[in-house]
Amino acid sequence: MLRNKSASPPVSLKGCRILALGAALGALREGPLAGAALEIGGIVQLEQLAPGGCDLIIIDADSFETGVLAAALKAISALRPAPPLLMVGDTLPAGLVRNVLRLEAADILEAPFTSEQLVAAVQSLLAESQPALAPTGGDSRCWAITGAVGGAGATTITIEIAHALAVASGKDRSVCLVDLNLADGACAAYLGASPTLKLADFGTAADRIDSAMLQAFVTPVSKGLDLMAGVRDANAFDGVGRDAVLRLLEVACECYDWVILDVPRHRRAWTLEALAGCDEILVISELTVPALLAAGAYSDEIEAALGTGMRPRIVLNRLASRMFGPAPSMVEAEKALQRKADAGISSDWEAAAASANLGGPIAQHRPKSKIVKDIQTLVDRLASAPARREPAPKAA
Ligand SMILES: Nc1ncnc2c1ncn2[C@@H]1O[C@H](COP(=O)(O)OP(=O)(O)OP(=O)(O)O)[C@@H](O)[C@H]1O
Ligand SMILES: [Mg+2]
Repeated sequence: MLRNKSASPPVSLKGCRILALGAALGALREGPLAGAALEIGGIVQLEQLAPGGCDLIIIDADSFETGVLAAALKAISALRPAPPLLMVGDTLPAGLVRNVLRLEAADILEAPFTSEQLVAAVQSLLAESQPALAPTGGDSRCWAITGAVGGAGATTITIEIAHALAVASGKDRSVCLVDLNLADGACAAYLGASPTLKLADFGTAADRIDSAMLQAFVTPVSKGLDLMAGVRDANAFDGVGRDAVLRLLEVACECYDWVILDVPRHRRAWTLEALAGCDEILVISELTVPALLAAGAYSDEIEAALGTGMRPRIVLNRLASRMFGPAPSMVEAEKALQRKADAGISSDWEAAAASANLGGPIAQHRPKSKIVKDIQTLVDRLASAPARREPAPKAA
C-alpha cells in the first residue's frame, strides 16, 4: 500500500454496495469481500451512478487502457459525494496514482497483495467515508428494554425498535443500540454484525471515553443505526467497571438522537443509574403465568429502586391472534400481572427465526410481519409522548 493511514474502526462489509470495474474482481465476491453486494460493471455504470448509489468503487487497473482509467477517474471525481475508490493493479502509472490520491477518499494497492491487505484497505476507506460522530448538542432520548424472564424476546424487540427509529429519523447515525449483555449479548449475531473489540480492551482508559473512542467501539449496521456491542467476553461483567459503562452511555447520549439499551435482567453495579437516565423502560414478558408474575415483580422492583416515580411499561410478546389451549387470556394475564399491560407484540416465529438466521431486523426481511406493525405502533406511541426523563446517566 502506498499510503499510510491511521487505524480506523473496522466496518462491517455485510450488504456494503461495491461497484467493481474489471472482470477479475468478481472472484472477491466468494473470497475476501464475501457478504458485500459486489456488482461487476464498466465505465458506463460508473457514468450512470446516482449520488449515493454505491458505498465503494474498486478498479482493477490492469483490465483497462490508461485512457479508460483516466475517464473513470474523471467520472468519479464528478460524483457528489464521490464514493471512496480503491485502485488495485500490477502496473500503476505515476500520473494515474497522483490523480487517484487527489480524490477525497482513495487508496492504491499494488499487486501482489494479500486478502487481509485488501479487506483492511476497503474497511479503512469505508470508515473514512462515514460521517464522523460528534456531539449532537440536542436532547437525546434513551429507552431501556429488558426481559422479565430469559428468552422473552427482549433482544428481538430492542432491535426492531432501534431499526424503526432509525428509519423514521432518516438521518445518518441517529440511533445507537447498546447491548449491555456485556458477556454474551446476542444483538450483533441477530443483526449479522461483527464487532471486533471488547469493552475491556479500553483498559483503564474506559472511564475517559470520548466520542472518538465511542466511534471505534460501535459497529455500523445501517445508515441510521450503529450497534455498540463487544465480542464475547466471559469476564466482562467483572472486568468492566461501573464508571466505564455509565461513561459510554453518557457519551452515546451526547452523540446520538436515540440510545436504545438491551439491558440484562440481573442487576449490576450500573443498572439502576443506567435506567435512571432513560425516559422509557420496557419490561418484556411472554404469555406464561411464571413470566407474567416475574414481569409484575420486576417492574415493581425497578420502580421502587429508582424512587423517581418512573414506572416501567410492560410489553407482552408473542401474542397469538387466537389464544389456544393453556395460554392465559389477556384478562388472566393482567390478573397475574396485577396491572394492565401497556402493549402487545404478535407472535410470528417464521419471521423472527428467518430474520435472525439471515442477520438483520424483521422489518428488513419480513416487512409484512405483524411484529413489524406492532412495533411501529409502539414506537409511534412512545416517540410522540413527551420524554419521561430523569437526568442523563453520569459517571462518578
Ligand atoms: N414476537 C415473536 N414471535 C415469534 N418469535 C419471537 C418473537 N419475539 C422473539 N421471538 C423468538 O424468541 C426467541 C428468544 O428471543 P430473544 O433472544 O429476543 O429473547 P431475549 O429475551 O433477548 O432472550 P435472553 O434472555 O437470552 O436475552 C428467539 O428465537 C426469537 O426469534
Ligand atoms: Mg437477549
